Amino acid sequence: MNSLTLRTPDDWHLHFRDGDMLQETVPATARCFKRAIVMPNLTPPVVNAELATAYEQRILSARPEGSDFSPLMTIYLTDNTTPEVVRAAKEAGVIAAKLYPAGATTNSDSGVTALSNLDATLEAMADIGMLLLVHGEVTSPDIDIFDREKAFIDSHLKAITTNFPKLKVVLEHITTKDSTDFVMAASENVAATITPQHLLLNRNDLLVGGIKPHNYCLPVLKRNTHQAALRAAVASGTHKIFLGTDSAPHEKHKKESACGCAGCYSAWSAIELYAQVFEDLGVLDKLEAFASEHGPKFYGLPLNEGTIELVNESWQIPENIALPNGDNIVPFFGGQTINWKLKP
Ligand code: DOR
Ligand code: ZN
Repeated sequence: MNSLTLRTPDDWHLHFRDGDMLQETVPATARCFKRAIVMPNLTPPVVNAELATAYEQRILSARPEGSDFSPLMTIYLTDNTTPEVVRAAKEAGVIAAKLYPAGATTNSDSGVTALSNLDATLEAMADIGMLLLVHGEVTSPDIDIFDREKAFIDSHLKAITTNFPKLKVVLEHITTKDSTDFVMAASENVAATITPQHLLLNRNDLLVGGIKPHNYCLPVLKRNTHQAALRAAVASGTHKIFLGTDSAPHEKHKKESACGCAGCYSAWSAIELYAQVFEDLGVLDKLEAFASEHGPKFYGLPLNEGTIELVNESWQIPENIALPNGDNIVPFFGGQTINWKLKP
């Protein structure tokens, strides 16, 4: 196959950051995605309607000339997020609220310390149709980092989905067979996203032959049997799993560091990398539904009208991206050659 036309896709999970960085991240995503769910883990976090609306304006101002890209805004749940806060956010157009267990990942210190604090808030979200987006990892130091996703499902997610059956829940950036099994067995109100890195890589790609900081993200890459389960899940064509890149830029010096940050910046090659995975799996015919249909249907939003075209042409992902502030980012898969290219 030499070219592939897809209904314009959306990215159901990413990090744009703020300030100068928006000049880099927003055009990178707007080059091929029509919409994106924008994570609220800024410092300080986006915890209410007012902050979400102001952030949305900053993102819109960073769009390239003529772009009709639309950010889909989220708020960050804390122990103090009341039902009134989520109702006001919904009225302001915020469509989802993000649950970060406190300390689970980048800028999650203000996250939720005990889910029992949020019963009334989750009930209100179910009532008004606001989605719950979940970073599904426990944080207790006695749980091994490779087991934190499974432990979260067992100790929290099963209870959330049982106690709030009307609440729509997205288990984001899943990394394990435990998660694919859970999502497939759960109700129609539970779905998941998968990143390019968790489909393409396993923990050998992080740790064998020297630590590869640019493959470090959270939840951390797992063993190859889990990677195989994720690949089988997307190959099945299930409507419960859709595209969410978790594109998450950190400056090069913050990744190549004694205490390196978690996150892979994949925006410049994400749709192309997913195409490569689907081609490897022999299911290119299932890419469009994964990238452009399952997500909007789950969120209750219209499908995009336009199309993008990918051509079968080798190109090299840049090794380095210069930022407006003089810093640099090493993009995910930087320097590697891939076979699909977005036609400008
Ligand atoms: O790898 C990650 N990076 N995982 C997350 O959950 C957060 C993200 C970030 O904000 O850098
Ligand atoms: Zn993320």
